[in-house]
Amino acid sequence: MHINGKELRTIWFENSTVKIIDQTKLPHQFIIKNLKTIEDAINAIKTMEVRGAPLIGATAAYGLVLSIIEKNDQSFLKKASQDLIKSRPTAINLKWAVDRMMKKLSGVNSKEILKIAIDEANSICEEDISFCKNIGLNGLKIIEEIYMKKKDTVNILTHCNAGWLATIDWGTATSPIYHAHQKGIKVHVWVDETRPRNQGANLTSYELNEEGISNTIIADNTGGILMQRGEVDMCITGTDRTLSTGDVANKVGTYLKALAAYDNKVPFYVALPSSTIDWNLKNFKDIPIEERNSEELSYIEGLDKNNKLTKVLIYPKKSKAMNLAFDITPAKYVTGLITEKGVCEASSEGLKNLFK
Ligand code: MRU
Repeated sequence: MHINGKELRTIWFENSTVKIIDQTKLPHQFIIKNLKTIEDAINAIKTMEVRGAPLIGATAAYGLVLSIIEKNDQSFLKKASQDLIKSRPTAINLKWAVDRMMKKLSGVNSKEILKIAIDEANSICEEDISFCKNIGLNGLKIIEEIYMKKKDTVNILTHCNAGWLATIDWGTATSPIYHAHQKGIKVHVWVDETRPRNQGANLTSYELNEEGISNTIIADNTGGILMQRGEVDMCITGTDRTLSTGDVANKVGTYLKALAAYDNKVPFYVALPSSTIDWNLKNFKDIPIEERNSEELSYIEGLDKNNKLTKVLIYPKKSKAMNLAFDITPAKYVTGLITEKGVCEASSEGLKNLFK
């Protein structure tokens, strides 16, 4: 996808350095940051310079490459893998990527290990790009069907950023939208602002603008009335962890949108690569839900009148705030899962049939 007309990926490896786009500075500043140590990689994940389930998985994979460059030693590598897994708890892609890397690297001869690590991290990225592209082609069919019936602009609501900035390229929820746009189908996106960190407003709207896709930012509470008015044809969100039961964990607020969609008979789709499926957990209550610093709620950052990035307190000084970052949408509210292998029902049967 593009920024200022230039084709980019969200992460790449060059001259023993991992390059990322610092997402904490978007949309006001575009900064490419260098990660040189395992600590840099862990910090980038924790502070959300990189975020989104597939991208934190890829960053963790390259983090292990950096740890080998720093110290080519199996116990250092093991500690790095454990620290990476702890850096953010909800998205399963992080553990998936670390486990995949460690399967290749554990016990490997110190002369060969760096090349094996770089190759595996690169293939995690290449695979994610191809999965996201296929998610787009599979989701495109659903948008096309709505367009054929409606013969007018398809209005799609999305929450958080499950765009290319959350992956390596294409995105998950946005990939069908990009494919529809490229095919000449008229689409318009309702972008949930996504408090407290505003990934919808700061990232999704930004990347859709860069691709020339019509979009409107709405406050998180607006989706319900838009659905009642018939102004939403479908919802597509991403997910940080999908259980084999079809239940999905995603950015907090997703559940409320799914409830409103259910009540208004608006199809609610969740887009994901198979790296986001947790085949082990059976009960959604066991999914670890990240609780982040409450200052993400009480302080807000933006440009002041002099175009300077400024952070301001917006709550009463004495008030307490709490910041749960994810919620769970039970499978019964999900119309379908859009994956790289096709679209299936959000259920054990549906997932089993696709991923035998
Ligand atoms: O806290 P974030 O910004 O990492 O949360 C991201 C999301 O919730 C995305 O919607 C999800 O990771 C799917 S990304 C393709």
